[in-house]
Amino acid sequence: MSHADEHAGDHGATRRDFLYYATAGAGAVATGAAAWTLINQMNPSADVQALSSIQVDISGVETGTQLTVKWLGKPVFIRRRTEDEIKAGREVELNQLIDSDAENANKPGEPATDQNRSLDEAGEWLVMIGVCTHLGCVPIGNGAGDFGGWFCPCHGSHYDTAGRIRKGPAPQNLHIPVAAFVNDTTIKLG
Ligand code: FES
Repeated sequence: MSHADEHAGDHGATRRDFLYYATAGAGAVATGAAAWTLINQMNPSADVQALSSIQVDISGVETGTQLTVKWLGKPVFIRRRTEDEIKAGREVELNQLIDSDAENANKPGEPATDQNRSLDEAGEWLVMIGVCTHLGCVPIGNGAGDFGGWFCPCHGSHYDTAGRIRKGPAPQNLHIPVAAFVNDTTIKLG
């Protein structure tokens, strides 16, 4: 065997080992990234949230319908409420609620009045994280459940027209993310 052949053989073996380790390494990196993403979503820091701001065009959302967008890996419900939904939400007394905290990132610690949960003064727009506070299913909207808001079929949690838990195992109202109007037709999340 010439010196050149020996060299080629070595090279082949080395290359095969390298591919094996590289594949194993890529798997480890992918697992790490998935774990990081999960932790990141559960507890996003202020700078991560700022970087993750998105703007949503709401010009096509008709009254009585809901737009669902994905933000930081979670569904966000943007509902344009009807007069009846607003009225129903505003008639509820705080002592009728299971959870009297607004769960509103813009108003921490505020009571869960309909006014504190809706984005605008008139209460037309309601923006919420679309994740059931029981075990994390995505509730069904468009007037679902016993209170005309959202219903989580996983274990039967009923939310009212302001997304407040009224019946079932969920302990908290649907959470409200940091959100604001940029202009009449755009909402910024984060
Ligand atoms: S996850 Fe919604 S009721 Fe259990």
